[in-house]
Amino acid sequence: MIDDIQAARETALARLAAASTSDEVRAVEIEVLGKKGSLTDLKAGLGKLATIDEKKQAGAALNEASTTVASALAARLGELRRAERAVQLEVERVDLTEIMRRPQRGHAHVVTQAWQRLEDVFVGLGFQVAEGPEVETDWYNFEALNMPTNHPARSMHDTFYVEHGEPGSTVLRTHTSPVQIRVMQTIPPPIYMIMPGRVFRNETTDATHLAVFHQIEGLVIDRGITLADLAGTIESFTKSFFGADFTSRLRPSYFPFTEPSAEFDIRTPSGEWLELGGSGMVHPNVLRAGGLDPEEWSGFAFGFGIDRMAKERHSINDVREMYSNDIRFLEQF
Ligand code: DAH
Repeated sequence: MIDDIQAARETALARLAAASTSDEVRAVEIEVLGKKGSLTDLKAGLGKLATIDEKKQAGAALNEASTTVASALAARLGELRRAERAVQLEVERVDLTEIMRRPQRGHAHVVTQAWQRLEDVFVGLGFQVAEGPEVETDWYNFEALNMPTNHPARSMHDTFYVEHGEPGSTVLRTHTSPVQIRVMQTIPPPIYMIMPGRVFRNETTDATHLAVFHQIEGLVIDRGITLADLAGTIESFTKSFFGADFTSRLRPSYFPFTEPSAEFDIRTPSGEWLELGGSGMVHPNVLRAGGLDPEEWSGFAFGFGIDRMAKERHSINDVREMYSNDIRFLEQF
């Protein structure tokens, strides 16, 4: 009997030492100390022993074996549980340094960059910056710019109307030119001002046209301003913005708000001419709408597209790409 107890004890201890999971430890517990376990079985056999002495010795050996196995079992279970918990923690770990790592630094949108550079160059030439509202009245957008109702030039502006006031009286500005009128009404001359901003046209978008885009307007009002001042300003701007190897020219054109009017082009170092915008001497009717006396003051104005500038500068094929919100495209500029 004693030998059987020792054998059961040693087997149990060996199996516990070899157990690699807490489930295996529990299986050993059942097989050794459970209702039908090896040591439990032996305990049940105690009564069959012949002498009291034998019973005493076997009983003592059984108690010792049970306690030893039970404490070995608890110890092994503790060890394995700790190991299993460590594995679980590792698996479920959240890397907080990932969250705290510094985010990648962004930069201004390609059109914002063009806008800011244009402002910088004109400020360098002595201009100030003004802005006007995007929702305009028909009067500021057309009428005050010498485009009364039914003026043929109005049809070139595919206008978005806003439901406000009299039908047709409120528009999304189709150009930045109405800001000229607002500036003349509020700032006494001399005026050397640029007016950048967002404009709207109700037209189908394509590679060179957007329904929402940006323009920059220029207005100079002073005494004795001539077309030569306009040409000189455009030329200085061209050289500071594009580079000393660029040059500009004025081409006769027509705009209702200027007389005479000219479109201006720039010549790239490779000899190519690019149409940039419109310009001219401010029409007397426009000066009057702005509250200025055409006998006393004269001036010139110009306007061109900011998105176009960004497109030309970076050789972008399709203006719509600039607004597709594709970070892989925008990151390039
Ligand atoms: N407002 C014109 C347009 O949107 C551009 C323009 C032309 C502005 C001539 C001017 C100008 O100030 O003198 O097409």
